[in-house]
Amino acid sequence: MAESTQPTIAEQAQDVASKLATTVAETLNFGDKVKDDIRSDLPVLYIDEKAGSDSTGSGAELSPFATPLTAYQSIKPSTESDPNPSSVATFLVRKADSVERNEWVEISASAKKKLVKSIGGWRKSEAKLAAEGDRLAKEKAAQEEKEKKRREEAKSIILVDDPSKESKKTKIYAVPELVGTRVRIQGWVHRFRPQKTNYFIVVRDGTAMLQCILTGDAIKTIDALDLTTESTVELVGTIEKVKEGQTAPGGVELMVDYWKIIGKAPGGSEAFEGRLSVDTDASIRADLRHLELRGETATSVMRVRALLLRAFRDSFYKRKITEVTPPCMVQTSVEGGSTLFEFDYYGAPAYLTQSSQLYLETVLPSLGDVYCIQESFRAEKSLTRRHLSEYTHLEAELVFIQFKDLLDHLEDMICEVVDTLLADPVSAEIIKTLNPEFTPPSRPFMRMDYRDAIKYLSEHGIKKEDGEDHVVGDDIAEAAERKMTDQINRPIMLIHFPKLLKAFYMQPLGEAPDFTESVDVLMPNVGEVVGGSMRITDYDTLMAAYKREGIPSDPYYWFTDQRKYGTTEHGGYGLGVERFLAWLLNRWTVRECSLYPRWMGRATP
Ligand code: 4AD
Repeated sequence: MAESTQPTIAEQAQDVASKLATTVAETLNFGDKVKDDIRSDLPVLYIDEKAGSDSTGSGAELSPFATPLTAYQSIKPSTESDPNPSSVATFLVRKADSVERNEWVEISASAKKKLVKSIGGWRKSEAKLAAEGDRLAKEKAAQEEKEKKRREEAKSIILVDDPSKESKKTKIYAVPELVGTRVRIQGWVHRFRPQKTNYFIVVRDGTAMLQCILTGDAIKTIDALDLTTESTVELVGTIEKVKEGQTAPGGVELMVDYWKIIGKAPGGSEAFEGRLSVDTDASIRADLRHLELRGETATSVMRVRALLLRAFRDSFYKRKITEVTPPCMVQTSVEGGSTLFEFDYYGAPAYLTQSSQLYLETVLPSLGDVYCIQESFRAEKSLTRRHLSEYTHLEAELVFIQFKDLLDHLEDMICEVVDTLLADPVSAEIIKTLNPEFTPPSRPFMRMDYRDAIKYLSEHGIKKEDGEDHVVGDDIAEAAERKMTDQINRPIMLIHFPKLLKAFYMQPLGEAPDFTESVDVLMPNVGEVVGGSMRITDYDTLMAAYKREGIPSDPYYWFTDQRKYGTTEHGGYGLGVERFLAWLLNRWTVRECSLYPRWMGRATP
């Protein structure tokens, strides 16, 4: 590669200086005085107030500075330099309006005077900055020294876990019953407040929280200096009731006499508190779902979720409805092909289940009424706040019932489960905190025929997405459904949907066979939380339904057989657990109600 022929700045300066000392004066039209004044041992710096630049200029003739001060600073003069700038460099200023003629003259006496003044100001501020830097460095060093000493001293303070002193290992939920007992607990530091003589640490172990108080040597150990939130700790001490007028979780606190860090969480830039805040972007929150789940709101939602599933199970159990666990890998669709997740099953196509309904129907003859709580999968192509790709589907199937029985059962179950949750102190407290306006739904639920809903939408100016009025036969889209539900502001059982809008298996309505014995339960703020129906009982009607929907009947032989071997009236429903929770806990989106939510484009963590 050819070497650069471009001279360096120093070479340029040198060159120009020597030329100036000999012939440059004539070449550049310098007067004799300028020529005489130029000293060949000093660098020459070019300044052009208009065409030069202090940020990009180098001081060379072809790249002048804009101001004499920057030119002066560029040679990095020592603080001891002669205050006369001409003793360290030659400052050439381009004559006004002479860019084309390129006429340079030495800096004028008045400009030089101004330069001397600004050098003075600059030196002063430099000195000030240096002094400030010095002070800060000294302070930092002193702090480090102090910290080092503290750590040295802390190393010599060892708390002893005295084996001769008894302690009862316990989970935190049990400590309110253990006042006066010496207990041993383990958990995560939820938050802590170090004070001069006390540390207040709130520890969480997944069952409850406990305020722990550390004093004396307990706050002087290395562990006390290293403590960070989300570290795991073990603490031993005596449970005491909180003092009059003070509050703490469970009304008790732990007076710690021995403790240690089990696993230290990072501090500084990696500290837990810095990773998530209310302002954190939604996609980062989703990436950090594993950390978000440690937060109080997410924990509360998950706790109610567990209690909700238990309440449903209790209510089913009470009614002698048996739990079954159908498969998730299937080869038939339930709710239409457009939301099926397909995968390769040993070389044959298979799907993730959309609903366990068909399997539930098959065990009615053996187990009677059945239910399941199973994941369902929908390849939803839209990103709404109530759609997930995987959700927890609570489905029940009841035999020898009529449509009214199905509606009554649904109403009973929903009201009973809400009552159970409001009677449980843990869920009641969480519902009160997250949804203070919540009132249990009053019975009977409003039952609204689909055709009356269409009328309601038209009368209340709730239009379709294309701006037109709804007419009988139209699907009621999510936005319209929610608008109507929010206006009515109480649970609605929307019944008798048109056959063509619903799945193939729904029982036609006796007096109007173009409609079905179907129900959607709509809740304010969420919309549909339950979808259910009576099922076709007659073999021929089912075969005709497959045909109408273009579904090949062969893969459904096991489902069809129900109509062959002792058919009977039956019906059932599916309840979206995350939607039910979103309604109960007033969450903005079902995503908050799933442990690790999946939606279009998101299957991590
Ligand atoms: O109305 P769907 O599609 O009904 C069925 O699947 C029936 N086979 C159920 C049955 O009768 N056994 O779904 C039932 C409920 C909806 O009301 C809704 O609460 C929930 O499942 N759901 C969803 N929840 C979250 N994300 C989705 N993508 C959902 N799709 C349905």
